[in-house]
Amino acid sequence: MVDVEVQPPWKRSYYFKPGYLLPTFMARNTIETLVRDFEIRDGDVFLLSYARSGTAWVNTILTAIVNIDDLSVIEKTDIHQKLANIEAGPSSGDPDLEADGIVVPKSFIELWINDKPSPRVLQSHLQTDYLPKQFFQKKPKTVYIRRDPKDVLVSIFEHHKSAKYHVPVPWDKYFEEFLKGNANFGSVFEHTKKCAKYMDEPWWLSLTYEEIKKDTKDAVRRISKFLGKNLTDEQVDDVVRVSSFKEMKKSYETSATPFYKEKNAGAWQRKGMVGDWKNYLTIAQNKEFEKVYAEDMKGYEHLMYKY
Ligand code: A3P
Repeated sequence: MVDVEVQPPWKRSYYFKPGYLLPTFMARNTIETLVRDFEIRDGDVFLLSYARSGTAWVNTILTAIVNIDDLSVIEKTDIHQKLANIEAGPSSGDPDLEADGIVVPKSFIELWINDKPSPRVLQSHLQTDYLPKQFFQKKPKTVYIRRDPKDVLVSIFEHHKSAKYHVPVPWDKYFEEFLKGNANFGSVFEHTKKCAKYMDEPWWLSLTYEEIKKDTKDAVRRISKFLGKNLTDEQVDDVVRVSSFKEMKKSYETSATPFYKEKNAGAWQRKGMVGDWKNYLTIAQNKEFEKVYAEDMKGYEHLMYKY
């Protein structure tokens, strides 16, 4: 059942832990049992990110690299399987979701992830405390992607409008809650700080959305080297092509899912640009954002975006 002990700021979210909001189609029980006890196979690659940081993009890059000899896997894989977060599903417990046709009968781990052939790319937006226990023992190759939190805010705000498993929230309200850490998956600043602990580990590769955007080929080369794959220049070009905004958008527009109001692409492939926050934040909001950002990131200034 959905936990409603403390009133969340909007429907279709709940507090998984104090101050840590999750969408109701991610069930408490899934995270406390299936996710925590999840069995990691040799060769699994983890992709960690806060929501709306370019996860689908980097997932496609990773999937292309590990399947470089058969890129048709990307086309053939169902959209949900392609982007299945380990923490997702089932939807039971929130009648409001079900009334809107969001019926996910089982966790994504049971539906798709357990049976996914190796090598698997496994993604999660969970903060590191809630990852599988084996994650910290087996230390699988992990790519961590972060993004300018102002752009994350804009993207996640827009996502609330287009995803049926969220409810639209007015911009000013969303802005305030986001700065308090009241967004799904908790505070984006906390997420970054918790990941900071692992950034120098040899099994961990940190990248930013902006650097991948600036030089995608270089990012693909760095990721493949990290995964121990030596790609030819032609193969690097192939990975860049199949993961391009245009190609991904084409593929998502033709995929059916009950999760979004409009075409899926509207949610997953929205604008794909750097600096869209300038079109949303007022001067006062920008000032407020930077104040909270500086306070929250004290001691982690090296991981802060400079404006
Ligand atoms: P915007 O909403 O700013 O456009 P996630 O997959 O973590 O939910 O991140 C979604 C964000 O990544 C969206 O940002 C989306 O448009 C962007 N994105 C998705 N695919 C992309 C691609 N191939 N290239 C660049 N950005 C991409």
